[in-house]
Amino acid sequence: MAESILNGRRVLLIIGGGIAAYKCLELIRRLKERGANVRAILTDAAQQFVTPLSVSSLTGDKAYTDLFSLTDEAEMGHIELSRDADLLVVAPATADLMAKMANGLANDLASTALLATDKKVLVAPAMNVRMWTHRATQRNVETLMADGVDFVGPNEGDMACGEFGPGRMAEPAEILAAIENHFTELAYPGGGPLKGKRVLITSGPTHEPIDPVRYLANRSSGKQGYAIAQALARLGAETILVSGPTHLSDPPGVTVKRVETAREMLTACETALPADIAICAAAVADWRVASDAEQKLKKQSGEQAPALMLVENPDILATLSQKKNHRPPLVVGFAAETEKVVEHATSKRERKGCDWIVANDVSPATGVMGGDLNTVHLITREGQEDWPLLPKQAVAERLARRIAEHFSTAKAAE
Ligand code: C5P
Repeated sequence: MAESILNGRRVLLIIGGGIAAYKCLELIRRLKERGANVRAILTDAAQQFVTPLSVSSLTGDKAYTDLFSLTDEAEMGHIELSRDADLLVVAPATADLMAKMANGLANDLASTALLATDKKVLVAPAMNVRMWTHRATQRNVETLMADGVDFVGPNEGDMACGEFGPGRMAEPAEILAAIENHFTELAYPGGGPLKGKRVLITSGPTHEPIDPVRYLANRSSGKQGYAIAQALARLGAETILVSGPTHLSDPPGVTVKRVETAREMLTACETALPADIAICAAAVADWRVASDAEQKLKKQSGEQAPALMLVENPDILATLSQKKNHRPPLVVGFAAETEKVVEHATSKRERKGCDWIVANDVSPATGVMGGDLNTVHLITREGQEDWPLLPKQAVAERLARRIAEHFSTAKAAE
């Protein structure tokens, strides 16, 4: 089972000359992390912002810069560079580069490779707001769109030139999502395998108030649940993410409902039913303060510290798993354990009544809590699957595909 839709895909990245070029380094890193093969061309102007050495260190290939380099042409000519790619990504796409593309100019390696391709081209524009809104640029955008070129961004915001408005290059995560969407659409032309399925997913911590300014919380970042939501949406599922407080931005294509407490999370989940799949990835606080104070608790010198009386929170996973009406046909829980991981998770699956449990070791030495990597075991009614150490993103994609397989097997058995 391929871990990522990008695994083995060949991306030719064309880096234009803009301050946003530095963001390409992050983009390359993320593409490589997901198994893509990346080749990069830098325009002359791009080399003023990032060096070919930084780019080639990250791609693991040489950085291509020169149309008339004898050695380059002998090793990998400009036509070959285009032909050898599954997708061309232009980031940052400057006004100049877009004007060349729209008019079919080919006077350097970047523009030549762009004219020589019959592959999909994805453009991430980046320029001053006046340059972006200029009639000439907008005309070029219209032409490029009519030619079948895809766009991601530009975003609105503060610009390096001190102005505000549209023109900021899309963030690496957004460009990455656009690239992943492109390959997902290629892989599933009629819509993803989870098209027509509705998924409810919880993620993040909950905050349980002590008084108006203090709360009980935990270290969950929400990264794993957000990645799962995004992976499921990419496979075509209608995805509703009920999220506790996190610093993460809404995953593309996902409906996000933000809540604070466990009780709010449960209400939001019940409102979102019926669903075909429920995934409880949130680190819901087990307890809340019995009666949170209406005013901020005051520290009085000489007085004893206040004693907090805790009461149990509702268990969202158990509630959804044991519903008489509208129980989602597949309910998946998570079990973060610090010892006897599989043993504890197996009994948790039975106790809570869910169908699958994704168990992981979160003892501090693993760095899983808040980190980017995860080692999980998938425990189903049929048995146990041990997955290797993977980035959380890859765990999410693997789980999403496993869910799609589960439904296609169930359908075949009908
Ligand atoms: O009981 P424990 O917290 O170890 O169980 C973990 C699983 O239960 C996770 O899937 C978590 O999202 C879910 N859970 C829940 N509501 C709670 C506590 C845990 O949905 N109050």
